[in-house]
Amino acid sequence: MRTIRKAIIPAAGFGTRFLPATKAQPKEMLPLINKPSIQYIVEEAIASGIEDILIITGRNKRAIEDHFDHNVELENFLKKQGKLDEYSEVLKIATMADIHFIRQKEQLGLGHAVLCARCFVGDEPFAVLLGDDIIDNPSKPALLQMVEQYRQYGKTVVGVQPVPTAEVSKYGIISGRQIGEALYELDDLIEKPAPEEAPTNLAIVGRYIIHPEIFAILAETKPGRGGEIQLTDALRELCTKQGMQALALQGERHDIGDKWGYIKAILSFALRSDELRDKLTAFLREQLQERIPVAP
Ligand code: UTP
Repeated sequence: MRTIRKAIIPAAGFGTRFLPATKAQPKEMLPLINKPSIQYIVEEAIASGIEDILIITGRNKRAIEDHFDHNVELENFLKKQGKLDEYSEVLKIATMADIHFIRQKEQLGLGHAVLCARCFVGDEPFAVLLGDDIIDNPSKPALLQMVEQYRQYGKTVVGVQPVPTAEVSKYGIISGRQIGEALYELDDLIEKPAPEEAPTNLAIVGRYIIHPEIFAILAETKPGRGGEIQLTDALRELCTKQGMQALALQGERHDIGDKWGYIKAILSFALRSDELRDKLTAFLREQLQERIPVAP
């Protein structure tokens, strides 16, 4: 079957890089302008043809569930006030797709979070979109690029982008040969290698289409790096058994779980907004003039 109908969005991590903001709310609820970042991810999944979405939540799940649910009081209030644009925006969120939730009871790692979706997925290929990785491409969503790839080849595929060599140790890195303009046939994946051990600088960036055989492998995967059950370790075994591809994704990536990544994402979205662009540019000019001494 080459249609991808189901997607998992793991959003149960502790978000330690963003404490204390993430103490009582998931980082995926941090807003980019006026939408929480997880809404961009859900919209990407829907625009890529996904019908059913499972969000893996942790202890602080309420905010995510509430966000994608009806808020009848608010809807009635907006209608009564004649704020119809706001009303339809709020209504749209509650009706955009079939969204389900499951709680990862212990944060044992991304691999374990994906394993929690075993019953939801059943026996069909599925997508995984990491809740903290925004890949911004207004003309073709990142997951859609991969879905089209998958339709053609029918192989598990991971989304990758080049990263500076000094940063490879933050990512899962692929090893393989290029077989198309943006396509790679993989022979291995390495989780967070040292720069001198990295076979390429192509990093997995939070988008996957995976065959369901991964679940049997994940169930047997022992905790790896950092004591966590790593998705990359299980993918590695799947790659040996079935082969795997990587697609270089077009789009601007923002790791919103990282302070700098989050700031860049907000600036980039604001610079594209008709409402905010001029104000932000003027503000930045002013700030830079104040901070950078003018050459005599
Ligand atoms: P990260 O590696 O970014 O970990 O997880 P984290 O805990 O969220 O953040 P930091 O590094 O401590 O700041 C990658 C993705 O996997 C999910 C996270 O929510 C994020 O989307 N994840 C991670 C889980 O769902 N469960 C886990 O046990 C671990």
